[in-house]
Amino acid sequence: MKLKKRFVCKECGCVSNSWLGKCPECNSWSSFIEEIIEERSKKNEISSNLIKPVKIQEIQTSINDVIKLNEENLNIFFGEGLIIGSIILLAGEPGIGKSTFLFFLSNYIERNRKVFYFSGEESSVQIKKRFDRVGHDDSSVFVSNISDINSIIELCKNDKPSFLFIDSIQTTYSTDVDSGPGTISQIKKCTQLLVEFAKTTGIIIIIVCHITKSGEIAGPKIMEHMVDVVTYFESDFKNQFRVLRSKKNRFGNIDEILFFEMESKGLQLITNPSTFFIENESIEKFNGKCKTVIIEGKRPLMIDIEALVVPSSYPNPRRFSEGVELSRLNRIVAIIDKHLNENLNNYDIYLNIAGGIKTSDVGIDLAIASAIFSSKNKIEIKSSTVFIGELSLTGQVKKVYKIENRIKESEKFGCYTIYSPNDGENKIKDITFIKEIVL
Ligand code: TYD
Ligand code: MG
Repeated sequence: MKLKKRFVCKECGCVSNSWLGKCPECNSWSSFIEEIIEERSKKNEISSNLIKPVKIQEIQTSINDVIKLNEENLNIFFGEGLIIGSIILLAGEPGIGKSTFLFFLSNYIERNRKVFYFSGEESSVQIKKRFDRVGHDDSSVFVSNISDINSIIELCKNDKPSFLFIDSIQTTYSTDVDSGPGTISQIKKCTQLLVEFAKTTGIIIIIVCHITKSGEIAGPKIMEHMVDVVTYFESDFKNQFRVLRSKKNRFGNIDEILFFEMESKGLQLITNPSTFFIENESIEKFNGKCKTVIIEGKRPLMIDIEALVVPSSYPNPRRFSEGVELSRLNRIVAIIDKHLNENLNNYDIYLNIAGGIKTSDVGIDLAIASAIFSSKNKIEIKSSTVFIGELSLTGQVKKVYKIENRIKESEKFGCYTIYSPNDGENKIKDITFIKEIVL
């Protein structure tokens, strides 16, 4: 039998043939609303403007399809610039700096291109105050507090900006949807309208979306499928460091990553990230500290690994790890125990990555083991020595990806003593080398 109406949960979009008091998907009460399904004609309708498929080689593209920003790092991040008619999601926790990023971005948009900034989060006065702190005087940003999506679209149809910023999708609403702003149906409807609008007008739309603590976008996952680019603004690192990653990019590489520092004058792009995470040491040697190079996105990043190994006064010695999973630390301690004959059972071990970086890059294993060995045995390591490699449970040092990039990055910082399983002067095979070398 053909369904004439259905019931949809206004919180999560769950569909049922009958009304339900409690949603089986999101557990909301009284959230089902009736929806009439439009009956379609049974005839196979054929569109009047039938366009034959075009041979792919014959499709015309032009450089005008891309708007270049005045900052090459941003162009590379988005994939050689911003494609006209593209729709970009900028997700992140509240307060991370999404709105500030929009101002940062507008500083690199050519002055003859209009940017319409619709904010349901802050008043125009608040936005102006922030702009005075972080913006360029001569940019063409136009601000409004309108949150009704149909009005936003109508205004843009008339004034034809090159860019439309929606801050945020949670405060934007459509009067066609009878649930409040921020609900699933509203987010879905507003995104749908914006996608259609971007594709038909060529306006580049950036939608800000808050995410919940658990990291999920507080809206339907469908939003990620609907847009062209999904970016996450994160604070992997302590204090003022921010990272912009892309999770999906229909026009570029998702390995690209941008580093920022949040200063009193807004976001500053960090073009040489390694300089931020290694200390410029005057001391030549350290006990329990060494360097390694990780890969963040596509970029090599030089970091300092610190370990402190002290006799324990606890029945169960402490294991504390910041920046690296505790299970990885425990694994490396077991490898040291087995293959270097170092019993660490009665020692507390503290491990830290300087600068507050969190990483799961396996290439730091060797550096962690060396820092622990150095601290335990009070052996100093030259601050210009770099350790790169993954440790296997058998004590072998395994090659890691992008090893050449990691070595190049070390050399860029004047570190020419590099221990890695790569061919070369200091090629190593297994962990026992730590005992042999004069550190
Ligand atoms: P904001 O962009 O408002 O975050 P979001 O839009 O993601 O909610 O950033 C807010 C934080 O950034 C706030 O804690 C203050 C800080 N901030 C600075 O440190 N310097 C600045 O120049 C600006 C504008 C904000
Ligand atoms: Mg904001």
